[in-house]
Amino acid sequence: MTEKSSNQMWGGRFAAGPDAIMEAINASIGYDRRMATQDITGSRAHAAMLAKAGIITDKDAEAIREGLLTVLSEIDNGNFNFSAALEDIHMNVEARLKEIIGEPAGRLHTGRSRNDQVATDFKLWVRDQIDAAISGIEALMKALIAQAEAGAEWVMPGFTHLQTAQPVTWGHHMMAYVEMLARDRSRFIDARKRMNESPLGAAALAGTSFPIDRHMTAEALGFDRPAANSLDAVSDRDFALEFLSCASICAVHLSRLSEELVIWSSAQFRFVTLSDRFSTGSSIMPQKKNPDAAELIRAKIGRIFGANTALTIVMKGLPLAYSKDMQEDKEQTFDAADNLMLALAAMEGMVKDMSANTESLEAAAGSGFSTATDLADWLVRALNMPFRDAHHVTGTLVAMAESRGCDLPDLTLEDMTSVHEHITEEVFGVLGVHNSVASRTSYGGTAPAQVRAQVSRWKEQLG
Ligand code: ARG
Repeated sequence: MTEKSSNQMWGGRFAAGPDAIMEAINASIGYDRRMATQDITGSRAHAAMLAKAGIITDKDAEAIREGLLTVLSEIDNGNFNFSAALEDIHMNVEARLKEIIGEPAGRLHTGRSRNDQVATDFKLWVRDQIDAAISGIEALMKALIAQAEAGAEWVMPGFTHLQTAQPVTWGHHMMAYVEMLARDRSRFIDARKRMNESPLGAAALAGTSFPIDRHMTAEALGFDRPAANSLDAVSDRDFALEFLSCASICAVHLSRLSEELVIWSSAQFRFVTLSDRFSTGSSIMPQKKNPDAAELIRAKIGRIFGANTALTIVMKGLPLAYSKDMQEDKEQTFDAADNLMLALAAMEGMVKDMSANTESLEAAAGSGFSTATDLADWLVRALNMPFRDAHHVTGTLVAMAESRGCDLPDLTLEDMTSVHEHITEEVFGVLGVHNSVASRTSYGGTAPAQVRAQVSRWKEQLG
C-alpha cells in the first residue's frame, strides 16, 4: 500500500498523509469553492495591508496581487484544478498562487489564520446574499403593489378560519403581503448592519504580534469596523444564523402566499388564473393546469428552516474558539440562500403574471352573509341599538336567509321588520359588497381610498 505524503500546507509535523476516509470527511472544497471570489478579495486586502505596514515588501505584495488575479481568472474561466487533498478553498488558492509566483506566496499568510480567513470569506458571502435577498424582496413588493393598484376596488371575500368573514378589496389583500415583506426586508437590513464587522486579522484566535492594521483591511472589504475581540471574531457564526432566521421568516410568508394561490387557482375557487409560464400540466389528465411553482415555493421553508435548525445545533455547546464543527456552517447556508432567491424570483414572476377573475371574486364576496357585520353596524348607527343586541337581531336574519337558501340582500323589508319593527328600507344600502368595503375607511382598513393611500406610500418608499 502506498502511503500519501503529508499535507503541503501544514504537514511539517506529519510523517504520513491522511486516510482516504479522513480526506473525504475533512475536505470542504466541494462546496466552499463558492467562496473563491470572497477568498481572493480578502487575501488581496490582507496583502496590501501587510505591505503598507511594512511586514512584507511592496514587490512581494505586487506579485501576490497579480498572482491572485490570475488565480481568480482561472477559477472564473473553469481552468482551475480543485484538489481535495488541499482541503478547502483557502489552501487551494494559496497552493496555486505558489505555483504561479513562487516564494512570495508563502508570505501572504503572515498575521492571519484560516480561522479568521474563513470567517471573513463566509461573512462576505452571506453579506452578498443579504443584498440579493433585499433586491428580491423589493422586486416582489413592486409586483404586489402593481396588483394592488390595479385592483384597489375589486371586491373579494375576506376570510377568518377560511370561512367567509367580510368583503375586502383585492388591493388590500395584496398590500397585506407588502407589509410582511417590508418587515422581512427590514430584518435583513438590520442583520446586515449588525454583522458588518471584519474578522480578518483576528488570526487563529488570539490576534497577532505583527503590526497589522485591521482598520485598513476592514475598510477595504466594506466593513464598518474590525471585530473587537479576536476570540469572538473567529467563533462567531451569528451572522449566518441571523441570515437563516431572516430567510426562514421570509420563506414562511412566501409559503402563506403560495398556499393562497394554490387555493385561489383551484376550479372550486377560480379567484385567479395563473399564467402558463408558471404552471405545469399532467401527463395523464389533459385538463390539468397545476400551480407547481406555488407548491414548490410553499415547500421551500422546509429546507430553509432546516438549515437554520442545522446550524443552530452545530453551534450549540461549541467552546471558544474555532472548532472544525464550524465547517458544517456553509453547505446548508448556501442551499438555503439559493432556494430563497429562487423562491423570491418565482413568486415575483407568478404575481406579475397572474390575473384576478373579478367576477368570481365579486360573486364570492357577496355570498356567505359577508355583510352581516354591516347590517349589525347599521342597527347600532340608525336605531341606536347596543352592538350585542344588533348582533343577535342580525343572527336571526342570517338564520332566516339561510333557511330560505338566499343571501341577506334577498330578504324583503317585511322579513326584516318581522325580526325588528324599526328596520327601514335604508338598510339595503349597507348590504352591498361595494358599499361595505367603501365604508371601511379607518386607517389600515380595506376601503379603496385607504388601499390607494398605502400604494402611494410604498411606491414613494421603494422609488
Ligand atoms: N475549511 C475550514 C472551515 O470551513 C477552514 C478553517 C480551517 N481551520 C482550521 N483550523 N482547521 O471551517
